[in-house]
Amino acid sequence: MPGTFYVTTPIYYPNDKPHIGHAYTTIMADVLARWHYLLGDDVFFLTGTDEHGLKLQRAAEKAGKDPKTFVDEMASFFKKYWSLLNIGYSRFIRTTDEDHVETVKRALTKIYKKGLIYKGVYRGWYCTSCEKFYGEGEYLEKDGQKFCPIHLKPLEWVEEETYFLKLSLYTEKILKLLETKDIIYPREYAREIISKLRREGLKDLSITRPKSRVYWGVEAPWDPNHTIYVWVDALLNYLTGIGWGRDEETFWKYWRSAHHIIGKDILWFHSAIWFSLLDMLDLPPPKKVIVHGFILVRGVKMSKTIGNVVRIEDLVNEYGNVDAVRYLLMRFSTLEKDMDYNPEQFRQAYNAELADTLGNLVRRVGVLAKRKAGGIVERPNSLDQELERKAKETLEKAKKLVDEVKLGEALVTIFDLLREANAYLNRTEPWKAENPAPILYNALEAIRIASIMLYPFMPATMERLANALGFKIESFDKACFGCWEKYQVKEAPILFPKLR
Ligand code: MSP
Repeated sequence: MPGTFYVTTPIYYPNDKPHIGHAYTTIMADVLARWHYLLGDDVFFLTGTDEHGLKLQRAAEKAGKDPKTFVDEMASFFKKYWSLLNIGYSRFIRTTDEDHVETVKRALTKIYKKGLIYKGVYRGWYCTSCEKFYGEGEYLEKDGQKFCPIHLKPLEWVEEETYFLKLSLYTEKILKLLETKDIIYPREYAREIISKLRREGLKDLSITRPKSRVYWGVEAPWDPNHTIYVWVDALLNYLTGIGWGRDEETFWKYWRSAHHIIGKDILWFHSAIWFSLLDMLDLPPPKKVIVHGFILVRGVKMSKTIGNVVRIEDLVNEYGNVDAVRYLLMRFSTLEKDMDYNPEQFRQAYNAELADTLGNLVRRVGVLAKRKAGGIVERPNSLDQELERKAKETLEKAKKLVDEVKLGEALVTIFDLLREANAYLNRTEPWKAENPAPILYNALEAIRIASIMLYPFMPATMERLANALGFKIESFDKACFGCWEKYQVKEAPILFPKLR
């Protein structure tokens, strides 16, 4: 049954251009959005930029620009990269957008009025790159100095007046929620949060900064000398994006099917803190928080702050094709484990899978259809049953795998169908046959059904392919073997030239 599907990426800090780590999350969300679109769901896909806070304030100062000018420029970079990668988001949200600033004020006023915010003094070690305080046992120590465990940069001592959010009231509630409901996926990640909650519980959270130090943020509605902590501001974007407080009907339609895709580094914020905030706002938790590991470069997390990034444009230039990059990033993605970026493995998969298995099959069938059937291939009276069975089985299996967000395995499964189609051609030798059209029809059906499944991963290439072979990609309903009546093959494209 078609339903709704709301998918989000984290909103990225636009202190620098995005790299393939950000592309990885965003492509994953795009694949899921497009997949659900093919399932017939009403899809809303939200991504954007997290523009307030000390990190951005400093980045702007360093660039010698006022923060708004700086984030305007940087947000446009993100948009450019997402358009290069063919990311079909429904909205690109910026935390400086007027409706978002409204959301933050509305949400915090509601929480303040409930008596869940109080004034105090905060003392602690802060990492500006994470925009996060680190407690004892969480930071690294060397020669008496404290370092951020993620960015390996010295922490700063902060001691100042702040407003606290009474998160400590929520430990039991959140624990129970996580223990009884499968929200965090894969489950393994939930266990980490559960044991941290059992060990330490939730502590009251400092949710404002003195304006004198962090002026670049949303003003606290009850005290003009304070700005709202950037993480609280940022998390609320998921509500703004679908109209919370402005368009209740749209909001509820999508919120019930909310899927947040995040990296494992920000799970604490997206579970313990986010679920508590939602509860304070009388809202249910999201349906799923899908967590993935990092892209590593020789064992170290790829990050702008560390300076070991692989740039999106470098990969696109290397393969000369955006869809190859989308494919390769998803092909080796896993949720449970980190993925060590391995250029050799990428190249091999490109040549063996995209150029050989897919590219050669399309080329062979296209050329034969043109040469031996004048480009017209109609449905014969009987179909190849083995290929038909394989196509059906592949679709069922791929649907299950995508549902489990095992995107790499789904791609392997889809390529099994293409391999089977290649074997079928080798077996039936249409180039020798007097009437090759029925054979070509079966092969074309296998290609068409695979193309529908591959469309979310490689939309532009699959559209190009459909055009060349004379079929349409509409929905999974049409992915039945024998459902296409007549192919009008225009050309036999070389989709992925082999790399030497
Ligand atoms: N602004 C916050 C998120 C707020 S969401 C309400 C933030 N931004 S970030 O730009 O630092 O990173 C966001 C996300 O980018 C990470 O959680 C992760 O999903 C992705 N990645 C950044 N580097 C990555 C890798 N090296 N590998 C995989 N994903 C990476 O945190």
